[in-house]
Amino acid sequence: MAGSGLILGIETSCDETAAAVVERGAWTRSSIVASQIATHAPYGGVVPELASREHLRNIVPVMRAALAEAGCGLADLDAIAVTNGPGLAGALLVGITYAKALAFARGIPLIAVNHLEGHIHAVLLEDRQRRRSESDSGFLLTDTGLGFHRSRSYDPERAENSLPMPALALVVSGGHTHLFLARPPLAGSEFGAWQYALIGRTLDDAAGEAFDKVAKLLGLGYPGGPWIDQLAQFGHHKAVPFNFAQIKTKAHLVGKGKAPRTKGARSSPVAELDRHFLFSFSGIKTAVLRYVEVHGLKASCEARRLALMEILAAGRVPDWRDAQALCDKQTLDLIASFQHAVVGDLLRKTFAAAEAVGAASVLVTGGVAANRELRVRFTAEAAERGLPVAFPTLALSTDNAAMIAAAAWPRFLAREFAGWNLEANPRLSLV
Ligand code: KG4
Ligand code: ZN
Repeated sequence: MAGSGLILGIETSCDETAAAVVERGAWTRSSIVASQIATHAPYGGVVPELASREHLRNIVPVMRAALAEAGCGLADLDAIAVTNGPGLAGALLVGITYAKALAFARGIPLIAVNHLEGHIHAVLLEDRQRRRSESDSGFLLTDTGLGFHRSRSYDPERAENSLPMPALALVVSGGHTHLFLARPPLAGSEFGAWQYALIGRTLDDAAGEAFDKVAKLLGLGYPGGPWIDQLAQFGHHKAVPFNFAQIKTKAHLVGKGKAPRTKGARSSPVAELDRHFLFSFSGIKTAVLRYVEVHGLKASCEARRLALMEILAAGRVPDWRDAQALCDKQTLDLIASFQHAVVGDLLRKTFAAAEAVGAASVLVTGGVAANRELRVRFTAEAAERGLPVAFPTLALSTDNAAMIAAAAWPRFLAREFAGWNLEANPRLSLV
């Protein structure tokens, strides 16, 4: 092993081909993401076969770019980390096969990382990175005669997070809406695996999926979250009252010998979870559809979709500004109300759960954590409660490989390596 503390992370679970080099779980040396948005946009969603094909096409150049930007070669790496689930089977397989081949050829360990754990570590990585920068500048201020040096007081082997632990993590993306209580392996240390307890989850659609489906039915582009985020600022958030009904866990439980009734119930049991921390986003999607039908907006949604397709056919990728010109006041109000309701539901349940489980901080991560209203409202609520809250930067909110390499570091130190028989697990759960 090189002893460099450098881990190459590879992420191909959905529609981004990503590779990154992270030093000791605390310093991003490079992070390259090849987005497939343009490939999937005409279909209004990710097409699994196309995703696998694009990963195959992109993985080698993306990995090479990550090494080049980090200024290192394969021989400098200590380990290769790869997402082994959850995600699309064929897409995961590309990353896993490639990571295995690289690790085997170099004779270095392979580390399997759960995608959800990766999202949590996106926040932890940046938190450590900030601490490291602060500690660097602290050194410089007190030792002005020495020029620019890295702080010697900072020991990356024992890098601590500044976020108080345990943290309640809301992982909210296109595939997931989960609440986990996350704690480091030993107080103040990064050795060994982090511990996670499942506190809440969605029973049906993920929040990001609701953003994407609502955007699609309104004739907007893919992925829908960023479009809705931008357009919501032009509408009135109280124009359409959306309610999240109380969730009755019973309806989702698996009775003896009975088939599970919901998507959520199939992937992991919800019986032991407090129903106040369960989410359901399929209802609001239907409510938006009903509103569109009842208020005669269907034709204008279709017209908007066609107008945006025309821009694409003319050789320019349309964005939310094009859509804004195509939306009337009623549609903008609907968009603002939808976003306000979803963010409100995420906020209420997250902070109620944080209080119930005695979390010392809150972190929000995953694609939907990029949402501006979500950031503003979570920050305000946290300040009111005196609870620290953290988000990843926008670049690390959506899928990337830096978070995978960072999550692998404690496992590397604990020598938790994957075997050469590592397989893709599309339904892999964190706990
Ligand atoms: O984490 P991610 O890149 O992939 C998954 O693991 O799913 O998340 C993608 C999801 C999509 O559903 C996208 O619409 C949503 O994150 N998203 C947003 C925003 N940016 C991305 N949702 C709301 N507001 C945004 N600004
Ligand atoms: Zn993700």
